[in-house]
Amino acid sequence: MPATASHLYPHASSVDDGRLSIGGCDAADLAREFGTPLYAVAEDDLRARAREFRAAMGEGEVIFASKAFPCTAVLRVFEEEGLSVDVASGGELALATSAGFSGDRIILHGNAKSARELEAAVDAGARIVVDNFDDIDKLDALGKPANVLIRVTPGVVADTHAAILTGHAGSKFGFSLAQAPLAIERLTNAPWADLHGLHMHIGSQLFDLEPWRLAVEAIATLGDFPAYDLGGGLAVAYTDRRPPSVTEFVGNMVASANELLGTGKRLSIEPGRALTASAGVTLYTVESVKDVDLPDGNVRFVAVDGGMSDNLRPMLYDAPYQADLVDRVGAAGTPCTVVGKHCESGDVLIRETALHEPKPGDVLVTPVTGAYVYAMANNYNGVPRPPVVFCKDGEARLVVRRETFEDLHGRDV
Ligand code: LLP
Repeated sequence: MPATASHLYPHASSVDDGRLSIGGCDAADLAREFGTPLYAVAEDDLRARAREFRAAMGEGEVIFASKAFPCTAVLRVFEEEGLSVDVASGGELALATSAGFSGDRIILHGNAKSARELEAAVDAGARIVVDNFDDIDKLDALGKPANVLIRVTPGVVADTHAAILTGHAGSKFGFSLAQAPLAIERLTNAPWADLHGLHMHIGSQLFDLEPWRLAVEAIATLGDFPAYDLGGGLAVAYTDRRPPSVTEFVGNMVASANELLGTGKRLSIEPGRALTASAGVTLYTVESVKDVDLPDGNVRFVAVDGGMSDNLRPMLYDAPYQADLVDRVGAAGTPCTVVGKHCESGDVLIRETALHEPKPGDVLVTPVTGAYVYAMANNYNGVPRPPVVFCKDGEARLVVRRETFEDLHGRDV
């Protein structure tokens, strides 16, 4: 009788006699069929989370922060589910357009937008989140009608890794509360600008709801606008620490907005991580197992065929992950350090996780890798980036192919 996998795995996963399935597909079979490293995504999980956010937002708009998982198949799912999309560059804009998003459902961000990026977004009919006075000068010079919001830095400090904090005084993003009135004045008077309202985004992987309320309180001092985009940032569980539910998060956000900004506003939110993180897992093959004796104990290194090229998050943010062997899920294990294949001692995927007698050839899975993992993959040490497979009702469908060695030098001239 299959059992539900732990809370770290996609809803659509199960464990039968220790064997893990994702979206009805046996994980060991996926590794055999598509090779490793492999990003496997439970498509139904993406859809379920999109629906959860939409139901919670009611009339409000749910905007997928595409940077979390920027590939056509993921964007198409969210387009079909009625979400909008946020893009942070010309490249993400091109991806969103080619995935089928119409301009009225695209929002452009960025603290260093080029004149070309701005023009492409305006021509596509996207909304522009104005971040600085240079954005305004560039749009002035362009002179084409544009829908704009103003990004405000509310000056609140949320509890998260410093690298992904954005709403604090001194952030490189947005206008400070002191500068915002001048930006509002300029955009209210610009003949080409249709100023919808204000935008804020205070950081990412946030567990505590209070900073959002403080931020809404701060932007409420800037006047009365028809639209507010309150950003993303809801945390996901990478370990036993559980974040607020989507309903709780959205409920709080909407309640703060109704109370502090007034009712009847056009509200948007921009989740990235909370839409995709737990829909995805990464499969690796164990290549070597090495025991190192130290004065204060033994370290068992379990080295896999990927690492910092397919998941930079442990290195960049000390992000915690857990792992299982796909055919021995739930078996009692001993502490292991999961390392990658790259030529750096810092290439550690997991400092400590319990694995049951790992050996070369085993398939190892790290759950909760559906956000900012594919997105930040790279080719360090000439390692081709992994493919993405969608799993649904027992069927696996390749949606991004594996990079080849030819791809690695395909741009060399
Ligand atoms: N809106 C804006 C303007 C953003 O900058 C971001 C994320 C989001 C929305 C979505 O935030 P989320 O709901 O995903 O927390 N690479 C880092 C995360 C960087 C987040 C950047 N901005 C990581 O791997 O943790």
